[in-house]
Amino acid sequence: MNQDIINGRQIHWFPGHMAKTLRLMETEIRNVDCVLQILDARIPLSSLNPEIERITEGKPHLYVLNKADLADPDITRQWLEYFKSAGAGCLPMDSKQRGKASAIKGPIEKELAALMERRRNKGMVGARIRVMVVGIPNVGKSTFINSFAGTTRAKAANKPGVTRGKQWITVDDYDLMDMPGVLWKKFDTLETATNLAFIGSIRDDILDIEELACGLLSSVRAIYPSQLLARYKLDESALELPPYELLQAIGAKRGMLISGGEVDTERAAKMLVGEFRASKWGRISLERPPHPVEEPEWEEDSDAAQTDQPS
Ligand code: G4P
Repeated sequence: MNQDIINGRQIHWFPGHMAKTLRLMETEIRNVDCVLQILDARIPLSSLNPEIERITEGKPHLYVLNKADLADPDITRQWLEYFKSAGAGCLPMDSKQRGKASAIKGPIEKELAALMERRRNKGMVGARIRVMVVGIPNVGKSTFINSFAGTTRAKAANKPGVTRGKQWITVDDYDLMDMPGVLWKKFDTLETATNLAFIGSIRDDILDIEELACGLLSSVRAIYPSQLLARYKLDESALELPPYELLQAIGAKRGMLISGGEVDTERAAKMLVGEFRASKWGRISLERPPHPVEEPEWEEDSDAAQTDQPS
């Protein structure tokens, strides 16, 4: 099991089954025509697994910015342009919409045009397209596959690492290889590690929920202060509070008190993290592309990026 430090605490996130998955990927990569790497649209770079990149290098590759319905649409546009300018095929996606994921077929067939042409020339009519679907835990691989299939074929749950062992899923002339979610051993930056924790890709039971909530409050108030203030009915002065006091102020607003009138900060922290993950703070992107990019000629896919108003 591998370990590192988040907010001064040692955490373990690389259990044996993930190492096994990477080895499985290394073996199976030769059995597929292309790779679909599912990323989280709110943190595209933090959710891009460098080990998966290494193993799948040289294979036709497409990126899916999943959970685009939870991300800031302007930032998602910038990310699409970022990937495009790096020569990588990329698509925004809301996999919770049944059938929506089949929009990936066009880009896959474009990516595999040369291979399909060769197959046609050899008379291999009806040869199936084999796609390896990869990504970190909880990024929405199972949900994506179910959306692609238009029915429930893969098990989806908001628990990192729930998919274990590869499985093939056949949909029309596609064979999708559903790989278990996998992280990597050493995160480059603390920001990567905390971003992964915020979206629930690292098991919560190895994290300190109050530190997680304070980190989230710090990050979000710097980039979407008005959404935070609106959600918790705070006035602007709350933005000046140290994160732990902000957590206390929010807990107090919600009446989360224990005996003696103290705020139950653990309960408040759980509520905050849960509400962020359920998109109650509105659409938020925690990461921006590294370089400023020009506004692209891209129209928001109204289906993929439906407005999810906070309730
Ligand atoms: P995984 O296989 O990569 O581990 O992820 P999985 O499909 O199990 O999805 C993890 C959680 O993310 C699920 O939430 C799922 O519904 C949600 N999800 C997946 N794709 C999208 C998307 O494009 N948009 C949004 N908004 N959510 C997505 P859950 O709380 O466990 O499930 P549910 O009860 O809400 O379905």
